Amino acid sequence: MKLKEEWIEKAKRNAALEAVKQVKDSFVIGLGSGSTAAYAIKEIGNRIEREEIHILTVPTSYQAFTLAVKHGIPITTLEEHSTLNLTIDGADQIDGELNLIKGMGGALAREKIVASASRRLLIVADGRKQVEFLGKNNHPVPIEVLPFAAPIVTRRLKKMGGKPVLRESNKKVGPVITDNGNVIMDVNFGLIHKPAELELELTGLPGVVEAGLFIEMADIVYIGKNSVVEKIERKNVGTNSLESF
Ligand code: A5P
Repeated sequence: MKLKEEWIEKAKRNAALEAVKQVKDSFVIGLGSGSTAAYAIKEIGNRIEREEIHILTVPTSYQAFTLAVKHGIPITTLEEHSTLNLTIDGADQIDGELNLIKGMGGALAREKIVASASRRLLIVADGRKQVEFLGKNNHPVPIEVLPFAAPIVTRRLKKMGGKPVLRESNKKVGPVITDNGNVIMDVNFGLIHKPAELELELTGLPGVVEAGLFIEMADIVYIGKNSVVEKIERKNVGTNSLESF
């Protein structure tokens, strides 16, 4: 592994380990997806073995599910536990208000559902993910779309000023199919100055299952840097508006 890659992996792992300290005995927690959340899942497994704590988890993807099984972590469902103590997940971009772009791993719909059922959402990431405005460097917003609706959603996204690209699989021919049987569109909107408005507009399009904009959902962000982990708390914590439903 090259030096820079090693540093990034260390930063991700340190952030994940710090967040997992918030997990307490008898908690029901959401397991996020992606490479940084994977470090958290492994550490949760370690803590269950070391401390004999009793934890139940709701995985946000097939990846998180298989990692939980591999690390001996008990799994439950939203049927059995519709309110979770917390969720630990990664992110692709994080702005100064702790709004997020998520979904480069294609798991954004379940991630948002599980996050919305959680009293607290803890985000783990390395320092490269912090941006002043979401959409920096033409980072796209991933959107999960029903295949049937893809053509009209594409047309409407273009009308909104977005540049949608159907995500293609690199291990099979054709599009990436999500854990829910849908497709992903990566939509470049340039710099996003009003992410809350954009999220509403996107999720209002018929055929859009979910958009990878997470607005005022993250409560604490753990950013792995050199040898330290920066902990940033959202100013208006406890206002996860979705959780009250
Ligand atoms: C999965 O769909 C995503 O939301 C991930 O949480 C996000 O892409 C971060 O992944 P990494 O930790 O691998 O960068």
